[in-house]
Amino acid sequence: MSTPALLIDQAVKTYANGFTALHGVSFRVEPGEFFGLLGPNGAGKTTLISAMAGLSRLSSGRIAVNGHDVHTAAHAARMSLGVVPQELVFDPFFSVREALRFQSGYFGIRRNDDWIDEIIHKLGLDDKADTNTRNLSGGMKRRVMVAQALVHRPPVIVLDEPTAGVDVELRQSLWQFIEEINRQGHTIILTTHYLEEAQSLCDRIAMMKHGRLVALDSTANLLQAESQLRLELVLDNRLPESLHRCLLEEDGHHYLLRLADYSELAFVLQALQFDGIAIKRMQLLETDLEDVFLRLTSDKAGAAA
Ligand SMILES: Nc1ncnc2c1ncn2[C@@H]1O[C@H](COP(=O)(O)OP(=O)(O)O)[C@@H](O)[C@H]1O
Ligand SMILES: [Mg+2]
Repeated sequence: MSTPALLIDQAVKTYANGFTALHGVSFRVEPGEFFGLLGPNGAGKTTLISAMAGLSRLSSGRIAVNGHDVHTAAHAARMSLGVVPQELVFDPFFSVREALRFQSGYFGIRRNDDWIDEIIHKLGLDDKADTNTRNLSGGMKRRVMVAQALVHRPPVIVLDEPTAGVDVELRQSLWQFIEEINRQGHTIILTTHYLEEAQSLCDRIAMMKHGRLVALDSTANLLQAESQLRLELVLDNRLPESLHRCLLEEDGHHYLLRLADYSELAFVLQALQFDGIAIKRMQLLETDLEDVFLRLTSDKAGAAA
């Protein structure tokens, strides 16, 4: 296997107050993936991202970015990673362009103006390039944070809730830009509360809850595993025995069946036909990530870990 863009190996984090925010999280992200890290507030996403960025130290376990351990090869790891933090933090005395130049200097990159101009342009910040960052709207500030994360052209980019508080239009153009850099080969790791966003953007998704992974799979598999079929049979017809294992709910002639994947739909139809059972109405319920997410992260659900 190639060197993963991100390797998280048994990450444990106990804060100074004794609270454990990560209970041994492990996963890897392959180069070029668009990867979603989802979980309710307090799941430990930002804690994990801080450890990736080398801003806080794990209590145990290991993180490597592009094969570089964030502690034993901190500089190489930092050069490989661009983080767009959840909190908007700026030096209030810089214009947008100055902030990006300063950030380049921090990474030891001297002549970077061409690239800085390009990212300013791509992020729709041309008009604001010489505006002091403190005078920008929240959405524009968020764009500057994205630009800052890109000044050193990192192969791996982490966005921690980048669209929180950003209006719809800005969100769309931000995603177009992020998708474009993903197509250029950058690995993208995204945390978001907007699940439909994760659903349309991410190839693969990790879901966290209380500092543990509760799901790790391709977006397609996560969604497929949840398909449901609503079935209404004509009077006097009953669901065949062979389909009882799929049965979620039953109410008179109405049945709700759970399908492990779409191929099971064919199986269900065959079973009905085989028994000569007439369908009055049938509806395949599209599940979205929100259903999966709620099921896996609700407090009723047991942790899969
Ligand atoms: N510095 C800290 N000291 C103690 N507990 C913290 C600290 N930072 C975060 N936490 C706790 O760790 C848990 C995970 O927080 P966080 O990583 O911010 O979650 P998320 O980003 O998924 O919302 C939360 O319960 C939070 O209150
Ligand atoms: Mg967070």
